[in-house]
Amino acid sequence: MTVRIVVGTQWGDEGKGKITDLLAAQTDIVVRYQGGNNAGHTVIVGQEVFKLHLIPSGILFPDTVCVIGNGVVIDPQVLLEEMDMLRGRGIKVTPDNLKISSAAHIILAQHKARDLQQEADRADGQKIGTTGRGIGPTYVAKIDRSGVRMEMFLRRDIPAELAAFQAKLTPYIIDSVQYLNEALAQHKNILLEGAQGTMLDVDHGTYPFVTSSNPTAGGACTGSGLGPTKIDEVWGVVKAYSTRVGEGPFPTELFDKDGEYLRAAGAEFGTTTGRARRCGWFDALVVKHAARVNGLTDLVITKLDVLDKLPALKICTAYDIDGRTVGDLPTDLELFTRAKPVYTELSGWQKDTTQCRSFSELPSEALKYIAKLQELVGVKITLVSTGPDRAQAIRRDI
Ligand code: IMP
Repeated sequence: MTVRIVVGTQWGDEGKGKITDLLAAQTDIVVRYQGGNNAGHTVIVGQEVFKLHLIPSGILFPDTVCVIGNGVVIDPQVLLEEMDMLRGRGIKVTPDNLKISSAAHIILAQHKARDLQQEADRADGQKIGTTGRGIGPTYVAKIDRSGVRMEMFLRRDIPAELAAFQAKLTPYIIDSVQYLNEALAQHKNILLEGAQGTMLDVDHGTYPFVTSSNPTAGGACTGSGLGPTKIDEVWGVVKAYSTRVGEGPFPTELFDKDGEYLRAAGAEFGTTTGRARRCGWFDALVVKHAARVNGLTDLVITKLDVLDKLPALKICTAYDIDGRTVGDLPTDLELFTRAKPVYTELSGWQKDTTQCRSFSELPSEALKYIAKLQELVGVKITLVSTGPDRAQAIRRDI
């Protein structure tokens, strides 16, 4: 029995969906614990491409149960559309393999309207670049205790705006905290899947340029109702370079041909909004910060193959802030905005890694790059992904 959390260590889009998909075959239950349809992940199975926003990618395995936990905010229409899309493609979606927490909050039309209006009202330089899906205002309503939870669908009289969804959603709504804790007592393997990433965490990210929930490991406990002592492993997923969508500081951002190369080679366009992602070199300070605040036990590197053609690679090992060299992430956004990256440079491998299936098959320069990341972050690298397909993953036997 293992209870494992999978978190993003950067600004989201690290490829958590693929990692959840890889682990789902050995997992009884996959739980989404925060965020909403601001997230998006793409899972490629053979010739098939699945784009999911709310339902964990475990849904592609008929024997894996997916739970949308109490920490998630749900747009009922988007959820039903996603369920229909999956069914239309032959994927089983029934109350047996999809369960929705009665305590998850509902995104209402007013929340979406407020999200768009607030963003439009923000002056240049203060815009957050939200996905416009109503996420922030729904969490505001939750915290100010005026929100509407999924349990509303189980009542006789519900707001007119929600009535049309009631019959379709009711069979899926359960007390997920009870369900998950009973599953734990039955020694099930449980995977808690975070959306977004550590640097978008409302407490531990680049506030205020963050999302409105806690993608970090603590949020997995709050957002699922599984207590901290029940967690065995926390896996941090990290891209072999860095990306960010939306506004906010990003010290290793590239504005040159290397940045354009990473965007094109990595297909760095948002799954949810289609926006071009900002691209940059690997920032070890960011991932070291993620290792701390999540208590990472393992690190998973994704998209190593995107670096295959580059002759030289840079890794940020420190910041220069107003002439001082700093080895840790400053919490003050003003300082972070002025941080200039100090790089160490490594040779590229300029060989194709997409067919490699073991560490010994990787080019020696790629192994050096991976070893350097592990040394800088201080967490063992358990898995390396070298392409979008399920087969393109190298597991280190430990
Ligand atoms: P919100 O979550 O829509 O309020 O957006 C707040 C910030 O988080 C914006 O910069 C978004 O671009 C970013 N964001 C939200 N969800 C994701 C995601 O799944 N991947 C990457 N960035 C995201």
